[in-house]
Amino acid sequence: MTDFLVKRNDLRECRIAESPAPQIEAGQALLRVDSFGLTANNVTYAVMGETMSYWDFFPAEDGWGRVPMWGFAEVEQSEADGVEVGARVFGYLPPSSYLPVVPAAADESGFVDASPHRAALPSAYHRYLPTGSDRFYRADTEGIQMLLRPLFFTSFLIDDQLDDDGLAKGDPILIASASSKTAIAAAFLLSRREGVELVGLTSPGNASFVEGLGIYDRTVSYDAIETLERRPATFVDMAGDGGVRRAVHSHLGDDLIHSMAVGITHWEDLGAGGGELPGPQPAFFFAPDRVSKRSEEWGRAGLEGRVAEAWHPFCEWTGGWLETIRGEGFDAVRDAYLDVLEGRVDPKHAHVLTLPNPHP
Ligand SMILES: NC(=O)c1ccc[n+]([C@@H]2O[C@H](COP(=O)([O-])OP(=O)(O)OC[C@H]3O[C@@H](n4cnc5c(N)ncnc54)[C@H](OP(=O)(O)O)[C@@H]3O)[C@@H](O)[C@H]2O)c1
Repeated sequence: MTDFLVKRNDLRECRIAESPAPQIEAGQALLRVDSFGLTANNVTYAVMGETMSYWDFFPAEDGWGRVPMWGFAEVEQSEADGVEVGARVFGYLPPSSYLPVVPAAADESGFVDASPHRAALPSAYHRYLPTGSDRFYRADTEGIQMLLRPLFFTSFLIDDQLDDDGLAKGDPILIASASSKTAIAAAFLLSRREGVELVGLTSPGNASFVEGLGIYDRTVSYDAIETLERRPATFVDMAGDGGVRRAVHSHLGDDLIHSMAVGITHWEDLGAGGGELPGPQPAFFFAPDRVSKRSEEWGRAGLEGRVAEAWHPFCEWTGGWLETIRGEGFDAVRDAYLDVLEGRVDPKHAHVLTLPNPHP
């Protein structure tokens, strides 16, 4: 069993560790982690590891953490009813050779991991979906699914909330870290609504990429925020950069209708520009809360059906420009992690990692 471990109090320190393969007991199954995507979203899981308990999904030795990833695994052993050896499932995985799970509520649409240490954590991360019955699955888009599916779910919920709150019409929506995949997916969905004006805020180096996407009406770099027209607008923040946030709030002040804090791609600048902000205080967007709300109103299947319907056109469009960088083995995982952590990945690229199969 191999694990990729990150030092919890210094995210730049990481190592690859070996240990005996886990043994499963009655009621458990053993997933062999096959492949996963790695973007700034995974770095956010590490940055928020303590605060939002992301380290608790896949516990590691003292002081170290296993950064959660989204990807595919194969059921290598099963002592659990309704979970077949050989099934390929999509879900939340550690960057490790294996994940032992305690499958519950297993049926043709998958199972949840009822491991006791996960019980108090948000249920949106507990489900494992077999490819055979998964409405998102297509064998030829596995790479895009690993990279963008969880982000797209969030983007769908952002688009849905803005519409629900009457903010997706008329007044502009400013999206910071406009080159991030989550921002791009949200902008893609919003751009399909009638009368929505989208402004992408990004680093000067990523401005031409953002412009070239053709989904934002305007692209403004972080150093030109004061050129934005002073009029009512909504701010959707994927950057979490204190300096950018303060610049937007100071420039627009009470013209800001709503400030939605979604991400922290600029994780090292989170604390910059502190103190009380002009205009409305940022409201934290937490996808699992919206999942609960819409699941109650539409049913879980109703929500998933709507997201799946919106997913396929996005997946097709993204396939036209996104280049996946394929890496194999734990050294490649470490290299990709450090590249993403340091913001060295070109926005039109994204990492997909495959782990070695000890029983090919
Ligand atoms: N709240 C929720 O429920 C939720 C759910 C899903 C995702 N999110 C968040 O949304 C954010 C976007 O995730 P993603 O996976 O879509 O990102 P991504 O595509 O990997 O983002 C890449 C972009 O982020 C910026 N960036 C990345 N690393 C940086 C660094 N070290 N320093 C400065 N800028 C950096 C750059 O954009 P710019 O130049 O345009 O700034 C870069 O083009 C994450 O923080 C993620 O956690 C939140």
